[in-house]
Amino acid sequence: MTHHDQGMNNAHDFSVLFVCLGNICRSPLAEGICRAELERRGLSGRVNVDSCGTSAYHAGEAPDGRSQEVALRHGVDLSAQRSRGLEASDFTEFDWIVAMDRSNAEGITERAPRDFKGQIVRFMDYVSRAPSHDVPDPYYGGPNGFDHIYALLVRGMPILIDAIEAPANHER
Ligand code: 4NP
Repeated sequence: MTHHDQGMNNAHDFSVLFVCLGNICRSPLAEGICRAELERRGLSGRVNVDSCGTSAYHAGEAPDGRSQEVALRHGVDLSAQRSRGLEASDFTEFDWIVAMDRSNAEGITERAPRDFKGQIVRFMDYVSRAPSHDVPDPYYGGPNGFDHIYALLVRGMPILIDAIEAPANHER
């Protein structure tokens, strides 16, 4: 069975997993923004979207109030999300695994099976003229940090979704 056939079996054409450290600040916001962008494009039913942390320190918790606040101000509701850690099954369920920073990408890569067929990428690869290659960890900073990561995520998300949707990826 080809990789493409496997993708067709779960009724989604694509699957994307956003990953940060705690899955309470950055990746829940990325997940919410991705869902909103897919909704706008009429692609919601075609893409399986989720988020997790390289750590499970905050497993079961709702997103940080500061992420929920900035999201809600832009019409995105994160309140139903719950934190979880990265699992072995994520490497079979997801084609695209999107790390928020270098450390997250290293944590994912260390745990990826040798035969993982998907892509492990860094979100900032999709932000042009990026000030840094990391979506900065806002946990110990003030509310401005959350406005900053919201702006970065909104800038890169359409480019990331274009890449996921690119015809070459239909035929893999
Ligand atoms: P996140 O932020 O990785 O964007 O969810 C963090 C959340 C919690 C911690 C660090 C970063 N922590 O150390 O508990």
